[in-house]
Amino acid sequence: MRRPITTLPPLLLFLVFLCRGQRSNSDSDRPSCHRCDLTFSCNCSHAQFIVVPMVTDDALTLDLSFNNIVMVTDDDLKGHARLRVLSLHANRLSEIHSSAFASLWSLEELDLSDNEIKIINHKWFRKLGALQRLNLLHNPYRSLGPHPLFKSLVQLRRLSFGSDALEEIGRAHVSGIDQLEELRVHGDNLRRYEPGALADIWPLGHVYLSLHGPFLNNQSLASAMLGDVSYPETWVILENLHLATSQSLQPFREAAKKRIRYLSLHNVSISDQRVVEFLVVTDGVPLTFLKFDGVTLKGEGRWEKAYQTDHKALDEVYLRNVIVLDVYKFVSFLQLGFLLQYPRKVSVINAGVFVMPCATSYLLVNLQYLDLSDNLLTDLTLQETLCNGRGTLKDLRVLNISGNALKSLSTVSQLVTKLSKLTHLDISRNGYSWMPQSCPWPPTLRYLNISQAKLNTVTPCLPVTLQVLDLSNNNLNSFLLVLPALTELYLSGNKFLMLPLGWMFPNLQILNIQSNTLTMFSLSDLASYSRLKDLQAGQNKFDCNCDFVNFFQSDIQRRKVMHLSDGEDTYLCDSPLYLQGRAVGRVWLSIVDCHRVLFVSVSCGLALIVGVMVCILLWRLHAFWYLKMMWAWLKAKRGSQRRRRIRHETEPLLSFDAFISYSERDASWVENFLVPELEEPRNTNEGDMDSTPLQSLSLCLHKRDFLPGQWIVDNIISAIERSRRTVFILSENFLQSDWCRYELDFSHFQLFDGHTDRDAVILILLEPLSRDDIPKRFCKLRKLMGSTTYLEWPQDDDRRAEFWNNLRKALRTVEDET
Ligand SMILES: *[C@@H]1O[C@H](CO)[C@@H](O)[C@H](O)[C@H]1NC(C)=O
Ligand SMILES: *[C@@H]1O[C@H](CO)[C@@H](O)[C@H](O)[C@H]1NC(C)=O
Ligand SMILES: *[C@@H]1O[C@H](CO)[C@@H](O)[C@H](O)[C@H]1NC(C)=O
Ligand SMILES: *[C@@H]1O[C@H](CO)[C@@H](O)[C@H](O)[C@H]1NC(C)=O
Ligand SMILES: *[C@@H]1O[C@H](CO)[C@@H](O)[C@H](O)[C@H]1NC(C)=O
Repeated sequence: MRRPITTLPPLLLFLVFLCRGQRSNSDSDRPSCHRCDLTFSCNCSHAQFIVVPMVTDDALTLDLSFNNIVMVTDDDLKGHARLRVLSLHANRLSEIHSSAFASLWSLEELDLSDNEIKIINHKWFRKLGALQRLNLLHNPYRSLGPHPLFKSLVQLRRLSFGSDALEEIGRAHVSGIDQLEELRVHGDNLRRYEPGALADIWPLGHVYLSLHGPFLNNQSLASAMLGDVSYPETWVILENLHLATSQSLQPFREAAKKRIRYLSLHNVSISDQRVVEFLVVTDGVPLTFLKFDGVTLKGEGRWEKAYQTDHKALDEVYLRNVIVLDVYKFVSFLQLGFLLQYPRKVSVINAGVFVMPCATSYLLVNLQYLDLSDNLLTDLTLQETLCNGRGTLKDLRVLNISGNALKSLSTVSQLVTKLSKLTHLDISRNGYSWMPQSCPWPPTLRYLNISQAKLNTVTPCLPVTLQVLDLSNNNLNSFLLVLPALTELYLSGNKFLMLPLGWMFPNLQILNIQSNTLTMFSLSDLASYSRLKDLQAGQNKFDCNCDFVNFFQSDIQRRKVMHLSDGEDTYLCDSPLYLQGRAVGRVWLSIVDCHRVLFVSVSCGLALIVGVMVCILLWRLHAFWYLKMMWAWLKAKRGSQRRRRIRHETEPLLSFDAFISYSERDASWVENFLVPELEEPRNTNEGDMDSTPLQSLSLCLHKRDFLPGQWIVDNIISAIERSRRTVFILSENFLQSDWCRYELDFSHFQLFDGHTDRDAVILILLEPLSRDDIPKRFCKLRKLMGSTTYLEWPQDDDRRAEFWNNLRKALRTVEDET
């Protein structure tokens, strides 16, 4: 693993030195593990490491289990002075440097189990003065020796050692341990035990001994060992026993002599004969607690031969995972009155019990607690077991028949109704699918567990005396029943869409409604519960709308109106889709999401205002006028082209000398002055004989010559087209008249269209107008005034003759040229 320094090129060595600081160069070979959480707990298990990886020096817990680490060097754990827990469980460790753990002054727990350690070095533990728990199980060492291992472990409270390979335990090896909470010794193949080796450990809380071989083959060894650890206060747990012969029960004599009170046997096989012998061996012993977990019984329950034995002290019998090989030959316990009359607590769990005969029930005169969970009871056999509801087990306080094959709630309620002290009834994990309208219950019942059934509805069958009710994992979707005494209600795993109404449970303190289909709950829902302290409502299908998110984040998270003991992180959004799976407490909803109506109305209002403002602006800028103009132009252009084509054949193009464009308000001037002057000229003029007689001109006036029924713009355009000249009578009135502007613009459009020459337009100013008086939008008129000469109507009578002359001249120019 470690590369010798000499093989590293000098530069690389330098770089390694730079990068690693004071750490040894061997670190360059070591992988790192970064799987540490905020509490500095580093879980580096199942990561295929073959050497101890580098982790932060701040680590408090380091889990290196299930890797392939083969050795721990003296450098590997340097600097971990803060480490409290180190697990090297299930690696391939065979070599640990003698000072590998030397810097772990704070280490409280060390797990070296399931490795390949052949020799345990006492030097490993020299500096571990803080160590409280040490696990050395399942390593192939044959002895703990030769040196005392645990002398320096003054704080040690839990010690586990041994394996199938362990052959000897000597006094010296384990010396120095004084008191332990727990001792585990795996010595299935133990050959030598120095009597008294474990005798100095006192007080001793729990001792677990796996002594399969010694119980079978060397009972004197097993006796010595069992005797050394047996005390009245110590819980003695013996594992993996095959009690085949009478001798194999010998060791119990030693324990009996020490008057042990708590005995458990785990994973044992035993026969009727050995049971009787066991009862005889423990005759008169103040054994109060007897537990068998994982028993294979060869026999028929014929234990009555031990009827003379005394087990007065027996208070609790606990049998679990019992296999009775000849189950159908099994007799009732009728003869076992000597044994059954004492215990107050009996548990027979997962033992294939399909009935307990009523006669047996009669024998259990002291019984207060009966647990028959995970058996094969049916409604029918339960009737036999509870003697048809005659109240036989009159002191019974707790009855647990969870995990059987019961179906009728009314049957069980009738059977227990006479048990006048019954407070706890656990009938969970049965097949109850229906709840009758009323059921008789003992008035003392406080606790009822009907979880994991198939109930669809809740009825007044439930007793009002209940304080704790568990209805989790059913098919309920509503709960309408007043339970005034209820303090705890468990409804997880149902189909509730909303919280039940709080006023029905005025004393409720704990409500669990996890894993339902709740979409939300609100402050008023919570307010209806007057005493609720703890709500668990995670893993529901929350609709993360604004009301709910807002309520959750401000009232629950910030103001803490309710304690959510299942953790705020289990409250996840189910909808809307884009928030699915996110924690309700950490989503952020925008204003748009939250105030949609407000947002829509505000934006519509804004759009309206903007629209109005744009309209005002356009109106101010005369945009409509421009648009109208543009439209008129386009129409006119198409119309005039069409007309021109038609007219080529039919009528002569020009029929007027001039089209007069004027405002209606200037009509009097046009009718009184212009028309008489140009259409009917007075030739008797100041005796100017040599002048040619004044010709009469034909004028086009909209009042007179426009075709009625035609669009005004068309009329104007056709008038302009059919006239040689267009005369504009300019005045303030003209500038204010819309259709005068069409005329102006159209004639101008024609001008630049190249159909007529520039002189086609004649401007007459009725009032003195300067270019600047003309509004800016009449840019064409302004341009015309700049380029075209215009005639001003003189206010002075004397100068009018000259004006008419000039006008005539202007009108006649083209005619002269032709
Ligand atoms: C570490 O992670 C493994 C799974 O990789 C898990 O089984 C184990 O319980 C975890 N250990 C701790 C202490 O959390
Ligand atoms: C049984 O154990 C004792 C005590 O360790 C030992 O002296 C004896 O040799 C063992 N007997 C057998 C048959 O192994
Ligand atoms: C139970 O004990 C037997 C020996 O009697 C042993 O072979 C077996 O592995 C044990 N079972 C367990 C689960 O420990
Ligand atoms: C009844 O037994 C089940 C399974 O053994 C257990 O989970 C439950 O807690 C027991 N109920 C009571 C009231 O002790
Ligand atoms: C009700 O019974 C179930 C199943 O036996 C168990 O898990 C649960 O803890 C019990 N409920 C209460 C409140 O004890």
